[in-house]
Amino acid sequence: MAITLSVVFSLSLLLAVLVLDQFFGWQAKDLINQRSDFFMDSMLAVREYTTKNVNPIVAPLNNGPGIFRPEAVPSYSANTVFDYLRAKPDYKQYSYREAALNPTNLKDKADTFETSIIESFRESPSTTSVSGEKMTPLGSFHYVARPIRIGKESCLACHSTPDRAPRSQLLAYGDSNGFGWKLNEVVGAQIVSVPQEALVQSKRQSLLATAMMLMVTFVVVGLVTNAVLDQLILRPMRRISSKAEEASVTPASVSFEEKVRSDEIGLLAQSFERMKQSLAISMQMLKDRQKP
Ligand code: HEC
Repeated sequence: MAITLSVVFSLSLLLAVLVLDQFFGWQAKDLINQRSDFFMDSMLAVREYTTKNVNPIVAPLNNGPGIFRPEAVPSYSANTVFDYLRAKPDYKQYSYREAALNPTNLKDKADTFETSIIESFRESPSTTSVSGEKMTPLGSFHYVARPIRIGKESCLACHSTPDRAPRSQLLAYGDSNGFGWKLNEVVGAQIVSVPQEALVQSKRQSLLATAMMLMVTFVVVGLVTNAVLDQLILRPMRRISSKAEEASVTPASVSFEEKVRSDEIGLLAQSFERMKQSLAISMQMLKDRQKP
């Protein structure tokens, strides 16, 4: 009995852990997706703020004789805000990139991985976002990328030909890169990546804690069930069985006390009691017949 119970409980525990592993896995994935989307949306909001609120004020300065003020450029503000964010230890492993095939600022030059993403956006103009996992020496990362398309004619003022760009920009960035972009062309990609290690670890801990709790519950339930079964059913059954054996030899001296119970054990005891009485009568009759 105890063995059957432990086998059933162990199998249930195994099944529960497998199901929970899946469930916690989905939960962790969901959380990572939420984080990446929030991160991307925040960066888009910074860009928009720069375009709408900062650029109109700063742009006129760039057309003057002074030095170029990159604060007017959405890409610059997004990168700078992200640098401040990353200075906090919690975001050390996060990354934000505005990678371009032919960038104005050479630090935005797309690497092999980024280039393949940008190329895929250029080949399929209807794709608005791609995401996936990336393994690096620092661990595994979830990335989300969106295409950067030249959607406004105004972008071309600084990205089409050097003679249209502010002189101050040419002095700061040179005239050999970040030009030749066309309207509606995908020139690069915004790519955020979020570390997964911590979440995977906390998923593992939740799974372990839940499995432990389940195991303790199963063991307690198993022990209690076993004790109750033993006390209420198994022991009375053993008693009835040994009395039935006794009754087969000396029926008159045996009494099935369990017959007072109102459950199935009681029923069984009552049946044995009746059988015992019939047996006693039969034996008596046999004895009487043998008397001369
Ligand atoms: C005032 C000139 C100016 C305008 C207008 C402008 N940009 Fe830029 N852009 C720059 C400069 C300068 C940089 C480099 C900023 C830095 O140092 O990070 C840049 C950087 C970028 C980058 C990052 C890759 C790279 O080239 O370094 C992208 C993408 C980009 N711009 C897209 C756009 C789009 C899209 C628009 C129109 C909505 C636009 N830009 C309008 C000047 C401009």
